[in-house]
Parts: sequence; structure tokens; C-alpha cells
Amino acid sequence: MNHLHQPHASWAQYYDLVFAETFGEAYQDLTDKTLAQVRSCAEVGCRIVDFGAGTGRLAIPLAQYGYCVTAVEPCWEMLQQLAHKPGAEDVKLTHSTMAQFVAKQAFDAAICAFTVLMYLLDEEALQASLQAVADSLASGGLLLIDIPDRQLFQGFVAQTKIMERQVDIDPLGGGLYCFSDQTFLQLESGTQHYYDEFCIRYWDSAFVVDQLRFCGFEVEADLSADFADFMSHYLLLRKM
Ligand SMILES: C[S@@+](CC[C@H](N)C(=O)[O-])C[C@H]1O[C@@H](n2cnc3c(N)ncnc32)[C@H](O)[C@@H]1O
Repeated sequence: MNHLHQPHASWAQYYDLVFAETFGEAYQDLTDKTLAQVRSCAEVGCRIVDFGAGTGRLAIPLAQYGYCVTAVEPCWEMLQQLAHKPGAEDVKLTHSTMAQFVAKQAFDAAICAFTVLMYLLDEEALQASLQAVADSLASGGLLLIDIPDRQLFQGFVAQTKIMERQVDIDPLGGGLYCFSDQTFLQLESGTQHYYDEFCIRYWDSAFVVDQLRFCGFEVEADLSADFADFMSHYLLLRKM
């Protein structure tokens, strides 16, 4: 897999800090709500695959609760951050995109959470990814997924005691946007700076739901009201 130009690769070591600084308490709130949702619908011990697992925000606590968790993540540097955290020894790590992932044994539940869909840039990638998610699940398996709202595609400035971050999100046409992120961090080791730039895409939620239905899913519950602060549709679906 090509490691170059992967979103987040150049600043994976700061990813957790930057997201915690940017979103403050809301970030922990989102994590708590997402974990509670998974725990309410998946029995402890069952097999869960976390697509776009990032640095393990969900995968590690779920493994600690007693689920058999596989983390699927295409950015090697993000996966390495996950790999070196306490608790990672209980998570099976897979370096792969969603679309390329092939399950050796069917999973009971899948998660695709916190804007992973916006990294899919064309319909082919979306369809292949959703099909791979469906193929990874046993019949009756559950999928928790979020579909970012258009409101999320707006730049922002975040400033805290230790961070100055400017994110620009510029439309390129056809639902594509250029996401650019310039961040300065004041750390004990000195000032750190990174710049990252990559493409993201807005997906209409009705279109994504149609694609999910095509892959054999039915919507079990629309959880968007429970996640109202996070500018995304949150859906629970069941593979029929
Ligand atoms: C904003 S992060 C969210 C990470 C994690 N799901 C969480 O909730 O903290 C989005 C992640 O999706 C990953 N990603 C990007 N393209 C992907 C793809 N095609 N398949 C799976 N994951 C992808 C990125 O590398 C990144 O780690």
C-alpha cells in the first residue's frame, strides 16, 4: 500500500492531542456516546470490525470491554499510533482500506465512525467500501455508521493554550473539497508545526443509504438525534 500522501500521515503522532484540543469535552462526549451505543446493541465477546479505526479511539476501549476487535486502517502512521497504546495488544490490527478488506471470519458488528466516509472520493470507492463492509458481516450483523452533514465542510480556527490550528475547507466542485490544516503546537519539546492537505468529499445521506440498501442493509435506527451536536447522520443498520 502506498504510504505517501495519506491524510494524517505526517502528524499522526499529534492526532489525538490535536483532536482533543480542537473539540474539547465534546470529543470525549462523542466517544462515550458511541461506545455506549455499541455496548447497547452488541453482546460482550462478539466480533467487531472498526473501519477507519484511526488511532484506536473506539477500538481500544471496545477490546477492553471484552469485544474481539479488529481495527482496519489504511494510514500506516495512524495504525502505528494505535499499535503503541496500552490495550492495543488486545486489538487485531489490519493495514487496509475498507474496500480492500477481506474478513477471514464473519463479524457480528462493524463500525465506520467519525467522518470516515468523507475520505472516499468517488462512487466506485464508496460502493466498493460499503460492499466490503457488508461482506465482512454475518447475516443479521449490525453496522454503526456516520454520514457527515454539509455543515461539517466549513473551515475553522481553533486556539487553545498550547495549539493554534487553522483548517480551510475549499470547494473543488462535484462534492469534493480541499482540506488544509496548518497547526502549531507548544509542547515541552518545543514548538511543533505541521501542514497537511488532502481531498475530502460530501456524500448525500439519502444516496449513501441507497447504496447501503443495495449492499443488503436495512436501517434499524436513525440515531442522529442522539448525536445532534456532531453534524452527522448516525445510523444503525442490519445486514439482512
Ligand atoms: C477522522 S479519522 C476517524 C478515526 C476513528 N474512526 C475515530 O473515530 O477516531 C478518519 C480515519 O479514516 C481513515 N480512512 C481514510 N480513508 C479510508 C478508507 N478508504 N478506508 C478506511 N479508513 C479510511 C483515515 O486514515 C483516518 O484514520
